[in-house]
Amino acid sequence: MIVYLNGAFLPLEDARISVLDRGFIYGDGVYELVPVYRRQPFRMAQHLARLQHSLDGIRLANPHTDAEWAALVGELVARQPFDDQGVYLQVTRGVAPRDHAFPAGVAATVFMMSNPLATPSAAQVASGVAVVTAEDNRWHRCDLKTTSLVGNVLMRQLAADAGAVETVMFRDGFLTEASASNVLVVIARRIVAPPKDNLILPGITYDAALDFAREAALPLEVRPVPKAEALAADEMWLSSSTKEVLAVTTVDGRPFGGGAPGPVFRRVHALFQKNKPQG
Ligand SMILES: Cc1ncc(COP(=O)(O)O)c(C=O)c1O
Repeated sequence: MIVYLNGAFLPLEDARISVLDRGFIYGDGVYELVPVYRRQPFRMAQHLARLQHSLDGIRLANPHTDAEWAALVGELVARQPFDDQGVYLQVTRGVAPRDHAFPAGVAATVFMMSNPLATPSAAQVASGVAVVTAEDNRWHRCDLKTTSLVGNVLMRQLAADAGAVETVMFRDGFLTEASASNVLVVIARRIVAPPKDNLILPGITYDAALDFAREAALPLEVRPVPKAEALAADEMWLSSSTKEVLAVTTVDGRPFGGGAPGPVFRRVHALFQKNKPQG
């Protein structure tokens, strides 16, 4: 596998960074995951805008212009033997003696790799997936896509331990998101999505799903979703670059939404399939 590290494309096994990299020591970095369909990045401009938001949030200068990023992603994609890809890119605050405060004059570390895009199986789309629920105990800047992911890792493991796909989180009685995806619900045929505030990652797929729904004139509303309402909703969906939109049909071991993907999900899933890059 060919990856990119600090200016060079090279085999994964030859890519090396210092153990003093602040990404390793502190999780002091940000990342993006750009889905690529048939070698065409989906919503690249939006991913680069979110990267800039994350970099601004951790006060790290962007090492590349958007045009440079697009060229790097294009070259990485071209170097892989498969068409549908998940391009991972990461920027850390670089290598410096261990000290919490920012080092002066240190170049950022830039790493990129691309894996086959693992979208849900046909069975998962048809039947939906299981989630568990938990209180959201992460920090208050969940809008930043930082590599400091141990909070999300612990949440995801709760799901893995229960044989579920995701952990859906609530903070102070309101729905936030899941460990690696956004969560939307449907109440009386209206899509209800939690606002993109500091408590959730502003998902590019969340925006895409809402854009496609809006274009199809489906009723939708962006507002805080009380936990009781979320758990009594007619439908619940996960959204992410790798899950696309995926229905939740089991919550904490009990059937949800009649135990099958609902009609609004099926409509938006079809719109998503129609609107994503077809190559
Ligand atoms: C915590 C979290 N929320 C939401 C998302 C969904 O974001 P996107 O649709 O941009 O992939 C992700 C994606 O990895 C995530 O990690």
